[in-house]
Amino acid sequence: VGHIDDVQELKKTKSPQIPERFIRDSTERPKLDKTDPPSCSNIPVIDFSKLCNGNKVDFCNEIFKIKISCEEWGFFQVINHEIDLELLDKIEEVANEFFMMPLEEKKKYPMNPGSVQGYGQAFVFSENQKLDWCNMFALGLEPHYLRNPKLWPTKPSDFSETVEVYSREVRKLCKNLLRYIAVSLECCNEDVFEEMFGVAVQAVRMNYYPACPRPDLALGLSPHSDGSALTVLQQGKGSSVGLQILKDNTWIPVQPLANALIINIGDTIEVLTNGRYKSVEHRAVTHREKDRLSIVTFYAPSYEIELGPMQELIDDTNPCKYRRYNHGEYSKHYVTNKLQGKRTLEFAK
Ligand code: SIN
Ligand code: FE2
Repeated sequence: VGHIDDVQELKKTKSPQIPERFIRDSTERPKLDKTDPPSCSNIPVIDFSKLCNGNKVDFCNEIFKIKISCEEWGFFQVINHEIDLELLDKIEEVANEFFMMPLEEKKKYPMNPGSVQGYGQAFVFSENQKLDWCNMFALGLEPHYLRNPKLWPTKPSDFSETVEVYSREVRKLCKNLLRYIAVSLECCNEDVFEEMFGVAVQAVRMNYYPACPRPDLALGLSPHSDGSALTVLQQGKGSSVGLQILKDNTWIPVQPLANALIINIGDTIEVLTNGRYKSVEHRAVTHREKDRLSIVTFYAPSYEIELGPMQELIDDTNPCKYRRYNHGEYSKHYVTNKLQGKRTLEFAK
């Protein structure tokens, strides 16, 4: 991505136009919500504290809500998640500071072609592909061999340490949520995912969507489903509403509650549950005046793991929908194709 395609630099030019490469075909353009902020539908809210307070009724209620969320929405938000709110503020602060640095400084950590780590725009493979109105910075976190020390920023000075602490906390949350998701399936032991995944892969991607003069023509992030098992999304506090999920063929905006984290099911859980739990297509739109920051954690099985639908979820009425495959090959397929709805899941068919 050259200087000219860096959307924060484009914003600085104050041009009322956007370059051709950001202008979507008419079928892809977002319909602008006339109300601002948009009226947001409420994705289900899971109260994490009720899953661990020892009260059986509370526990069962929340598990039931998780089941409905995963079956019908593929998304939910978690409140009282036990991650220190100061840590959420801190990661947001260092992410903002990173993106506010001069382009030359950020370019010291380039996302090279074929890589999904570093600063730049991921998933771009051809000259005529439309670009997302977004700057990204991504890091592989676990297992440690994924880490490329050259890509860990030295500025802001507390960036790397904050990412480290944050990712440990989010990892704990993912493990707990996967246990509760297993419980909600009512057919397997609660550690089924933990046992299956090996040393789970974890990565973080920070997305910065500057205000865009033509939110009617551009997209912040192309429609896609996630290749992960589980994704945890934190939206910046002052951010505009941007995330939209496709439900019943309609794009619906999602506004997180204060201090909540948005969770979504990735392709891996869809495959493992033989389609019972859905990896739902989502995208991000831009805003005319406001910037938006999101910090996204991907949690997935170890690359050497072979996956396929769980036997317990296959029967005469639910025939097996996906083949068995190697998760590393799936991940490779995912990162070497452009984001295009649920297209990447075709790999598992
Ligand atoms: C993502 O899907 O990775 C990010 C979406 C968002 O920024 O809300
Ligand atoms: Fe996503």
